[in-house]
Amino acid sequence: MPNATGPIGVFDSGVGGLSVLRALSRALPHDDFLYIGDTARIPYGSKPMAMVRGFAEELADLLVAYGAKAIVVACNTASAAALPALAERIRVPVWGVIEPGVAAALAATRGGVVGVLGTLGTIRSAAYQSRLERAGVAVWARACPLFVPIVEEGVSDTEIAALVARHYLRDRPRDLDTLILACTHYPALVDTLAEALGPAVTLVDSAETTAAAVASEMASLGLATATRRAGHVRHLVTGDIAVYRHTGTALGWLEGDVAPLTLAAPRAGVVVGGPR
Ligand code: DGL
Repeated sequence: MPNATGPIGVFDSGVGGLSVLRALSRALPHDDFLYIGDTARIPYGSKPMAMVRGFAEELADLLVAYGAKAIVVACNTASAAALPALAERIRVPVWGVIEPGVAAALAATRGGVVGVLGTLGTIRSAAYQSRLERAGVAVWARACPLFVPIVEEGVSDTEIAALVARHYLRDRPRDLDTLILACTHYPALVDTLAEALGPAVTLVDSAETTAAAVASEMASLGLATATRRAGHVRHLVTGDIAVYRHTGTALGWLEGDVAPLTLAAPRAGVVVGGPR
């Protein structure tokens, strides 16, 4: 059975999931968090979904082995590829970011025309489009594979990002009123996107709604921590630690300490090192 004293495990391919981690640690300030940034294998969004599902299973298994009492998949691509298979595989509760993002967009839309920006994998999976269409809204969707490297490179507030944003938004419908940032990296581009779109479009980032849903479900599952001390955040990074620290800090999203995580083989799930 899950143990209410363990950390909450969170993972993404890189720094994008830190936007979700930050919201989670504000909603659950007494909980400890263990975050895996799988920067050695980024991007997930342009890889085959079966491969991404393998990565997600490996990282979720690892977080459970480290004592995680629950898992948050802070990555849309991995959520689209691996939920609900992950929920069946692991013995602790697992949440993704897609359902909260859809709920937030449906609450935000005034005219019923919703856009979705995401990775190739997320857009091709139609995970957002099918849910939104079932709810009766018109959907425009666009894959934006250049956005993740722009964010990881730390140039999300430059003219490069603005040019790319205009390129991806060029064929949006005129009556678009709500746009879902369906990749956890994209909140780093919020100012750039808002400038390209103008004030008529509401941008939806699922970080806050995901955190609120996780906090309330953890409480109802009896997984709320009993401690009143401030929680601790630890990051395990499969790629270059200095780059991760630099980008996470530049985004203002990095809290806690950072350590290396060496995956012995891309799919093996064997680990050298780990949390102290
Ligand atoms: N941040 C991730 C997402 O939400 C993945 C980005 C990537 O690795 O391509 O989809």
